Amino acid sequence: MEVKTSLLDNMIGVGDMVLLEPLSEDSFIENLKNRFEHNEIYTYIGSVVISMNPYRTLPIFTPDKVEEYRNRNFYELSPHIYALADEAYRSLRDQDKDQCILITGESGAGKTEASKLVMSYVAAVCGKGQEVNKVKEQLLQSNPVLEAFGNAKTVRNDNSSRFGKYMDIEFDFKGDPLGGVISNYLLEKSRVVKQPRGERNFHVFYQLLSGASDESLKKLKLHRDFSKYNYLSLDSAAVNGLDDAANFRTVRNAMQIVGFMEDEVQSVLELVAAVLKLGNIEFKPDSRSNGSDESRIKDKNDLKEMCELLGIEQSVLERAFSYRTVEAKSEKVSTTLNVAQAYYARDALAKNLYSRLFSWLVTRINESIKAQGKTRHKVMGVLDIYGFEIFEDNSFEQFIINYCNEKLQQIFIELTLREEQEEYIREGIEWTNIEYFNNAVICDLIENNKNGILAMLDEECLRPGTVTDETFLDKLSTICAEHLHFESRLSKNSKFLTDHSLPHNCFRIQHYAGKVLYRAEGFVDKNNDLLYRDLSQAMYKANHSLIKQLFPEGNPAKVNLKRPPTAGFQFKASVGTLMRNLQTKNPNYIRCIKPNDKKASHIFTDSLVRHQVRYLGLMENVRVRRAGYAFRQPYEPCLERYKMLCKRTWPHWQGPAREGVEVMMSALPVQAEEFSYGRSKIFIRNPRTLFFLEERRRQCLQDLATLIQKIYRGWKCRTHFLLLKKSQIVVSAWYRRYAQQKKYQKIKSATTVVQSYTRGWQARKLLRELKHQKRCEEAVTTISAFWHGTQARRELRRLKEEARRKHAVAVIWAYWQGLKIRREYRKFFRANAGRKIYDFTIQRIMQKYFLGLKSTMPSMSPIDKNWPARPYLFLGGVHSELRRIFHLWRCKKYRSKFTEEKKAVYEEKLEASEIFKDKKALYPSSVSQPFKGDYLEINKNPKYQKLSIAMEDKVLLADVVNKINRANGKGTARLFLLTKNSVVLADQKTGQVKASVPLPDLSSVSVSTQSDGFFALKLKEGSASAVKGDFLLSSEHLIEIITKIHRMGTRAADREQLDIDISDEFLVQFKHDKVCVKFIPGVPKNGNSVSCKRKNNRLLEVSVPSTA
Ligand SMILES: Nc1ncnc2c1ncn2[C@@H]1O[C@H](COP(=O)(O)OP(=O)(O)OP(=O)(O)O)[C@@H](O)[C@H]1O
Ligand SMILES: [Mg+2]
Repeated sequence: MEVKTSLLDNMIGVGDMVLLEPLSEDSFIENLKNRFEHNEIYTYIGSVVISMNPYRTLPIFTPDKVEEYRNRNFYELSPHIYALADEAYRSLRDQDKDQCILITGESGAGKTEASKLVMSYVAAVCGKGQEVNKVKEQLLQSNPVLEAFGNAKTVRNDNSSRFGKYMDIEFDFKGDPLGGVISNYLLEKSRVVKQPRGERNFHVFYQLLSGASDESLKKLKLHRDFSKYNYLSLDSAAVNGLDDAANFRTVRNAMQIVGFMEDEVQSVLELVAAVLKLGNIEFKPDSRSNGSDESRIKDKNDLKEMCELLGIEQSVLERAFSYRTVEAKSEKVSTTLNVAQAYYARDALAKNLYSRLFSWLVTRINESIKAQGKTRHKVMGVLDIYGFEIFEDNSFEQFIINYCNEKLQQIFIELTLREEQEEYIREGIEWTNIEYFNNAVICDLIENNKNGILAMLDEECLRPGTVTDETFLDKLSTICAEHLHFESRLSKNSKFLTDHSLPHNCFRIQHYAGKVLYRAEGFVDKNNDLLYRDLSQAMYKANHSLIKQLFPEGNPAKVNLKRPPTAGFQFKASVGTLMRNLQTKNPNYIRCIKPNDKKASHIFTDSLVRHQVRYLGLMENVRVRRAGYAFRQPYEPCLERYKMLCKRTWPHWQGPAREGVEVMMSALPVQAEEFSYGRSKIFIRNPRTLFFLEERRRQCLQDLATLIQKIYRGWKCRTHFLLLKKSQIVVSAWYRRYAQQKKYQKIKSATTVVQSYTRGWQARKLLRELKHQKRCEEAVTTISAFWHGTQARRELRRLKEEARRKHAVAVIWAYWQGLKIRREYRKFFRANAGRKIYDFTIQRIMQKYFLGLKSTMPSMSPIDKNWPARPYLFLGGVHSELRRIFHLWRCKKYRSKFTEEKKAVYEEKLEASEIFKDKKALYPSSVSQPFKGDYLEINKNPKYQKLSIAMEDKVLLADVVNKINRANGKGTARLFLLTKNSVVLADQKTGQVKASVPLPDLSSVSVSTQSDGFFALKLKEGSASAVKGDFLLSSEHLIEIITKIHRMGTRAADREQLDIDISDEFLVQFKHDKVCVKFIPGVPKNGNSVSCKRKNNRLLEVSVPSTA
């Protein structure tokens, strides 16, 4: 819920002077002081804002403050310039009413700052967007440019605006700024040529000299040193807190943003430089031959430079400073200028140059910032113009300024009263005439076309003949003598004849804000504002586009013999336009007051403030505002604020707000004439009544606060109590649950224990019973078993006894029978019965033995060693003989199954066994190898076809052997063929027979006991084959080869048995040498194979790897 606040909340003093009670100048100032001391620099007089210059930065212009005041009603928050700006902006945007903000006050009171605050507030709250922001920026940036050229340091203000400024900001229907128009008034141009002590010329001169680069200064023919220029006062060239160089950059930047072209900026700076140069031109007197006074330029260097800058011919300007040409009808009269006149002309030119440059700048800025398009715009005007000026020495300028202020006061009165009246009519309140001072009469004194002061001054200026300030004052005194607000020593009014406070050369006007004494001196001159035509023509001739524009009257083609309008006339006209402009708008006033003369914060000088309060007519403001009703407020907020004052309206009023207010007011002890009911507002005549209401409200609020506090406390305690209660219930519930749970657990475990004991007891009992039962059953079983056993054994014993008896009976009977038989037959068989019984028994036993043997015969395998056990000892010999016979028989059976070849093979194997078994280590490995004989398949292999054919007998063995070279022991592969008659060695590749040894030539064969395959075929000495010597060969099939060779020897009947010598050392005959072949068991040198090496003539060593 939005909290409705009011200006009346937390007020320091009174926020609105209308509510001041009692109203007097003292209380007014006291209120201002009180507020100022509490940093409340703004105070209202109705809708007028009084602004005190704080001379320090207050934290009340932040973006947060902008937000706070945005869209809030004027009287809702404490007084602030933002409230006024917001009110003006909203009524412009929402009600389509053009607005003007009139800011007045004396120099240094904060008008310019206030105008900037208003502009920045409006810029902050209005629409946003690229285009809008650009416009805002241009509008805001026009300030630094105008301040540089139009502001100066004065004794009263370090940044004093030396011109009046009115700016119209135009908005579209949405309230977005479109552009603006600036009007300037009365630039204090005399400052260009002369400044009072402690003051400076316009800022721009100092900014240019401090901030421009060396290069651009050179271009402008300037020196950085201020002291080189006569027009610049030196005593206060540097101002505290003012950085001219930085400001120069700001100004240049601002000019760029506003839209000045680079060459325009340059032209402007050239003109500024030209003014400085102009000030340095000095004249010296010179006398002419005809005796007239003349002047001459002392040092033409500055003149030359200035002419170069502006593109003026030097001689033209020089002449213009020396002569004055007056044209009357068709006549032209030239007169020479004396030194004073020349200086006057120079200064007039400088002033004109500068003031025209300033006006041009304003026009140029207007060109940039003017709104585009032709749609009707809403306008907000901001007027920042000098306030009333009352100095000790007041001149033409003060007169004009005060005239302007009179006019402003007049429209204030007019508009305020009109507004007041309109509001009364709108609200249906009866209009009562208001007593106030109407300053129209003073305005008339000054501006009346016939006998107004300005009209008379113009008349005097235009009058032929000698015109002086004195003649003007005379005239004034004569004509205005009767006027109530005009005072002069010369007037007929005897009252002033002896008034010594009024000097003879002065006149006094009783302005609405006080009496002001004007010195008539300089009125005529300043009003004339003469610039000699020669000078304007010289300027026009300049080859400089800007200068040409500034002096259009110098155009010889458009020579105008009429005098230019006077300054007074021009000002009156522009004030007239301004007033007409303002009258169409809704005015908003900001009255600025400066609290002290020292530009210091926290100092409030009563007398100074009193002076300003007087001449700003603030008391008058309050009186006008309070003339009817001091306070008014719409019914809704009024009811909202004061409804607690009446029981019927508190806390809620259901009907219309007005009725609510009526009910409320009737319930209060307030006199009926103290207030009036308008259509939408209640009007309260006296602030007293309002304060009464406020006081009652405050009391009510206190009571209400107590009530609220009471209720709140009650509620809080109750809630707390309820919470505690609830908590207690929850806690106790939980506790009970917990306790019950515990108890239950206990009972449960006790029950379980009891239960288990009972069950255990029962079970044990049952077990005991069952065990007893089982034991009984077992006992029964045992007993019965024992019983049955006893019975059975008894029975068995009985049966055995019986059987023994029966056997005994049978034996006895048999014996008896035998005895009987033997007795009976003894006589017949006594001689050979025993032999026969014996034989019979033996026969029976043998029969049984053989039949048994038949069924237990072992298998037919010759290697089966099984044989049934011997049944009777006496059959021992038979039994083993039978075994031998059976074995031989089954061997025969086995052999009979063999084919011839197989038989031969087995015979060979048998023979091999006879030769080698247990003699040579190689033998066991050969047992399982079948003797294949022809390993080369010599008959089938086409490679050995020739060899096969060459063999006469059948080849019994063909194999590849290694023939050991007799010389070195190395082996060569040879084919080894064995036929029944010979051993043949042939070449392995070609099959060519290398050696053929008939078997009968072999004497013996030697082999080692080792596992090697070496064998030596020893030849019979003297045989044909023995020429080369014995053969030392090695073969994988050694056993087979030797067996076969041996067999051939045994078979042939005509041959001797071949000796097989098995030993590890034997002799062989190699040609003529007997060589010992020695087999060395052990690790061979190279690998696992057998190596053979001829050691010397007698020894050939064969290393045989051990088989282990
Ligand atoms: N609201 C403010 N907050 C802080 N300082 C302020 C404020 N208003 C004015 N000042 C100070 O006072 C000085 C003078 O203010 P400003 O230039 O606005 O006066 P002015 O009324 O325009 O004077 P002039 O008539 O000479 O132009 C400012 O430079 C500034 O230092
Ligand atoms: Mg100013």
